Amino acid sequence: MFGLFKKKDTFAPLIVDMHCHLLPNVDDGSSSPEETVRCLKAMYTVGYRKVFLTPHFQARYPNIEDDIKKRFEVLKKAIAKSGEKNLPEVVDIAGEYRFDPSFARMPGVDKVLTLPGKTLLCEFSLHNNDYMPTDIFSDYIKMGYKLILAHPERYPYLNAHSTEVKKMHEMGIAFQVNILSLNGFYGESAKRKGFEYIEKGVSEYLGTDTHNMRYIAALLETAENKEVQRILKNYKFKNAEFIK
Ligand SMILES: [Fe+2]
Repeated sequence: MFGLFKKKDTFAPLIVDMHCHLLPNVDDGSSSPEETVRCLKAMYTVGYRKVFLTPHFQARYPNIEDDIKKRFEVLKKAIAKSGEKNLPEVVDIAGEYRFDPSFARMPGVDKVLTLPGKTLLCEFSLHNNDYMPTDIFSDYIKMGYKLILAHPERYPYLNAHSTEVKKMHEMGIAFQVNILSLNGFYGESAKRKGFEYIEKGVSEYLGTDTHNMRYIAALLETAENKEVQRILKNYKFKNAEFIK
């Protein structure tokens, strides 16, 4: 009977999650250090051992890098104080930057919070059908950043223009499909595209994009999804490169 209640460590092959919003009270993510600890505890049960936090940087959440770094130090102390042992290590703070011309600080901010190797997690509008910020992608690449596009399966524009997918790959932009998309969390279209990008070998990374305990409930459910288990078994992802 006990086995029935044991969580599946489906995501153990990934080891690392480098996309989550678990820095409390800075965007639409976790609402407290306690919620962050609960989320981390659950992520451990499904196989994660290292996590990078990636708060939003965009017009709606105009976070400032120095402030975010200070808040990260406070959170680390709160996690240590919680006394919880089975948590993934919170390795570092980075950001999820929205490439949007209306975000005045883009491009050219001088203190961008990146993943190791000057790797920048980025996104663009999830709501328009006729636009992709190619110029901003190019500007960042010229500045020496390696770009990872978060949740490619969720952009209507990209999904309607497969030539743009090819163009992005020719520019060297990597894809990070959102794991929850594979279980239908963002609808059928995102689910179909998520599997397609993985099976075509164009998603080198997978992210959870965990925001709070609602997302964790979906992540635990996704861990039990047989199709998702098949993907994790049959395809290799590069998440672990960030801890080498
Ligand atoms: Fe995100």
